[in-house]
Amino acid sequence: MTTKTADTVLAAGYMSGFGNEFATEALPGALPRGQNSPQRVPYGLYAEQLSGTAFTAPRHMNRRSWLYRIRPAALHQPFRLLADGRFHNRFDEAPATPNQLRWDPFPLPQAPADFVDGLFTVAGNGGAAAQSGVGIHVYAANRPMQGRYFYDADAELLIVPQQGRLRIATELGVLDVAPVEIAVIPRGVRFRVELPDGTARGYVCENFGAPLRLPELGPIGANGLANARDFLAPVAAYEDVEGDFELLAKFQGALWSARLGHSPLDVVAWHGNLAPYKYDLNRFNTIGSISYDHPDPSIFTVLTSPSDTPGTANMDFAIFPPRWLVAEHTFRPPWFHRNVASEFMGLVHGVYDAKEGGAKGGFAPGGASLHNCMSGHGPDAASYAKAVAIDTSKPQHVVDTMAFMFETRLVIRPTRQALEAPGLQADYWRCWQDLGKHFDPERR
Ligand SMILES: [Fe+2]
Repeated sequence: MTTKTADTVLAAGYMSGFGNEFATEALPGALPRGQNSPQRVPYGLYAEQLSGTAFTAPRHMNRRSWLYRIRPAALHQPFRLLADGRFHNRFDEAPATPNQLRWDPFPLPQAPADFVDGLFTVAGNGGAAAQSGVGIHVYAANRPMQGRYFYDADAELLIVPQQGRLRIATELGVLDVAPVEIAVIPRGVRFRVELPDGTARGYVCENFGAPLRLPELGPIGANGLANARDFLAPVAAYEDVEGDFELLAKFQGALWSARLGHSPLDVVAWHGNLAPYKYDLNRFNTIGSISYDHPDPSIFTVLTSPSDTPGTANMDFAIFPPRWLVAEHTFRPPWFHRNVASEFMGLVHGVYDAKEGGAKGGFAPGGASLHNCMSGHGPDAASYAKAVAIDTSKPQHVVDTMAFMFETRLVIRPTRQALEAPGLQADYWRCWQDLGKHFDPERR
């Protein structure tokens, strides 16, 4: 379960369930029995509580874990503020735009870059101070984090790998995550990212609001969409390593750096319901119409961060997975629409069924699109032409694809660096210009 080497935590085992009260120990008897904070903790460990919600949050929303560790998290030198980089929360530096935006795949790094070096902020809204909104980033990395660790005090991190596996060694254990899986790291949890495939690229949503949870199912019933048992939290795994290490903290939009003389991944045992977790998007139980019309895309919600307004999420994470389209006399692609919410989309692999043609570059894996509040969008001309011609008495199998959406109640504001990125497709708007006029008052 454990290792003494500085570079790798060897363990990768999981416990199943969403938000369960887990209990795990890497050494037998390391978890105190019958109480959280005994006078003397087994093996000479320190007890430390990690609270992800207010102490007095209602029981069904309360998230906290007790960590039993070699040294408390307090043990490090003072943090110093780092110069601004490409990873930030400056969402007001460029005008929010009603234009439809789309980016080519974000480039892999030329120079050496680890996961934190490789973070590039594309857009966002709200912020850590408001405890609402999201930061939307991409990462592109070509080396493991060596001798340094990171935590985000501002937000829970939803990581969507697009290319290359990630080994995320956290205080609470190890997550091995591949494209078409996601990982969620709670606010404050320290971790290091290794790259088993040498390079990696993907998307990160910083959720400044309430922790992600499973959506309500309403009349769907007790099962369906993302099932709780498919979420995996890591078993305890620790490293007992001393050296000259760096601890990076994201705090109120800025990056801070502190030295520490040991690995912070030194939690030998833990129990509680605040933990990192992963989920395989292939496990999603996709539900759609078996008669006519397309349900609202909320039917594709994997996880949701609720706001104080019922039914109006701070952020929803939705996916567009392989599925059968069987609705008769129905326009089957995602329909044309305008939405009070704002939509940032990415593509893990394959082709998204509303964007089969159109502008140069297209909607490619590793790229992104942004359709803000009340900005009209929908299928491109090629997808429309195909959809109105298809024989809807026959089922249609959408295969080999995985698109996703970060949908937020607040307008998503692109950063200046994203608007100036060479991959921004200046001609994206043209993909709708071939949607011709078919109206004829003489023909029904
Ligand atoms: Fe949309």
